[in-house]
Amino acid sequence: MCGIVGYTGRRQALDVLLKGLYTLEYRGYDSAGVAVQTPQGLRVVKTQGRMKTLDEKVHALGGLEGSCGIGHTRWATHGAPSDVNAHPHVSADGRFALVHNGIIENYLELREELQRDGFVFQSETDTETVVHLFQKLYCGDMVKTLTQVVARLRGGFALGVISSEKPGELVCVRRDNPLIVGFGEGENMIASDIPAILPVTRRYVVPGDEEIVHVTPQGVEFYSLSGERLTHTPQTVDWDVSSAEKGGYDHFMLKEIFEQPRAVRDTVSSRIRGGLPALEEYGLSDEMLRGVRNIHIVACGSALHAGLVGKAAIEKLARIPVLAQVASEFRYSDPIIGEGDLCIVISQSGETADTLAALREAKKRGARTLAICNVVSSSAAREADSVLYTWAGPEIAVATTKAYSAQLAALYLIAVRAALARGTMDEQTARRYCDDISSLPDKIETLLKTREQMSELARLYSDREDTFFLGRGVDYAAAQEASLKLKEISYVHSEAYAGGELKHGTISLIEEGTLVAALACDPALYEKIISNIKSVKARGASVVLVTNGNYEADGEMCDHVVHLPQCLPELSASLSIIPLQLFAYYIGVYRGCDIDKPRNLAKSVTVE
Ligand code: AGP
Repeated sequence: MCGIVGYTGRRQALDVLLKGLYTLEYRGYDSAGVAVQTPQGLRVVKTQGRMKTLDEKVHALGGLEGSCGIGHTRWATHGAPSDVNAHPHVSADGRFALVHNGIIENYLELREELQRDGFVFQSETDTETVVHLFQKLYCGDMVKTLTQVVARLRGGFALGVISSEKPGELVCVRRDNPLIVGFGEGENMIASDIPAILPVTRRYVVPGDEEIVHVTPQGVEFYSLSGERLTHTPQTVDWDVSSAEKGGYDHFMLKEIFEQPRAVRDTVSSRIRGGLPALEEYGLSDEMLRGVRNIHIVACGSALHAGLVGKAAIEKLARIPVLAQVASEFRYSDPIIGEGDLCIVISQSGETADTLAALREAKKRGARTLAICNVVSSSAAREADSVLYTWAGPEIAVATTKAYSAQLAALYLIAVRAALARGTMDEQTARRYCDDISSLPDKIETLLKTREQMSELARLYSDREDTFFLGRGVDYAAAQEASLKLKEISYVHSEAYAGGELKHGTISLIEEGTLVAALACDPALYEKIISNIKSVKARGASVVLVTNGNYEADGEMCDHVVHLPQCLPELSASLSIIPLQLFAYYIGVYRGCDIDKPRNLAKSVTVE
């Protein structure tokens, strides 16, 4: 949801800003802009469209000379994507430029107040109110002014501001939104995410909520809203810049699909000790797991789909009741959760606004909270009582793949440990589960070889406008993720259905040529799902069967079979999703879609 970047130092700011913005484009890509302190004062170049358009525009204008500036790539919330709504926004007197990520909830009342003061607005954005407010409250000191501004704002945000009167100075602040400060030598940066600072430094700090940060080439100072000076020790990024590059793949999504064996291995290997899950250091002691009353899994999108697989595994193996809920619903549902309950929030970014709000709600009601997230030091990681990181590495494509697979692996470990702790599984069986979990990376590796088969199937079916994914039990949870993958990157309408539910209405949509992808990975349910498949086949559907069963394409039950390696049924979602991710990817490619940056989406949804 918008990427912001700022630089002050000895290099040309424009180069650093553009490079940084390219790496943040996954956060929003409907418009982009930069503002630089030039010898002629503040100069702003912004445009509707992608970063490439901004890059061309700013270079066609001869570039911008100066060593301090800010930049932005936008995912529109208030006001359509347009040149005028693009950031940075500039104060009425032209002295201040500001970039913003998040939402200013009281912007209408601020706008009215500022209009009464004579400010004339150029854009429809909530952001413009903040820059005019900054001008109105300006007292000659950037830190003090930003402190005053923050006190007037409601909502969550990250802000970066520069002034024509303060060469080399940059101030920023965050509230419930991501922002990091990078520490270089004689140069410093701010950014929404780590990849943007890597060309300059690997050392960074995540400032606390509402800390005002003053950045100059010489140093960085942090202040509380009451003006007290604060200190932080920088952390060091321990992954390489190449992790955030395509590395020879056509798209980040394809690269990330192929990184799944490593992502799962890294997530699992250090957490299995002596053949059993070791989770005590993540707040999951046997005593706690024994005493837990209910588990609430709260998340959005694919993370929720991982949660549905986790629910099935935990309920089946540990016999703990699990509710898997949409975070945006949970937070306003007056949830029945409290002491004795465990709330697991799952989030790749750790910054999803609804998930964070749900986490806070669960905490407020006395539940213990665990975050399963991928971004180190993200808000969810910091706010939950404990955190179990998925070591998937930076995920750039908007459509998640490797983070989802790593989330599944983390949930299996919890299910097995909880089962052991509660005595619903003996040690020998737990070891068998752990062996199977440990063997998932190799099996995923094998499944990546279905690339050509899936590309060929995608070529055959890329013209279909409706697709149904069918499954029962865990297969139904996996079907929901497969369906989301397809719709988000290829814009093909698709639905996931529980196999047994189809006949209660939806089967009326099946007609000659409708594409149905059916999952059959649990031997106990083979016969049931096969009869569901036969009933769609009989109505003319083209059926692709994804199974670990001994089935072949016979034209009567199905047209194509994708064979999966064997694994314990509770873990099968980790395997069935792999060919279906590839299928969605190639459908998107054949339909000419923008795979890594699908329309209307952004990687991290930091608004409600
Ligand atoms: C997945 O492909 C989606 N882009 C989306 O559903 C995503 O999983 C969801 O927005 C949650 O994001 P998070 O994991 O960062 O919280």
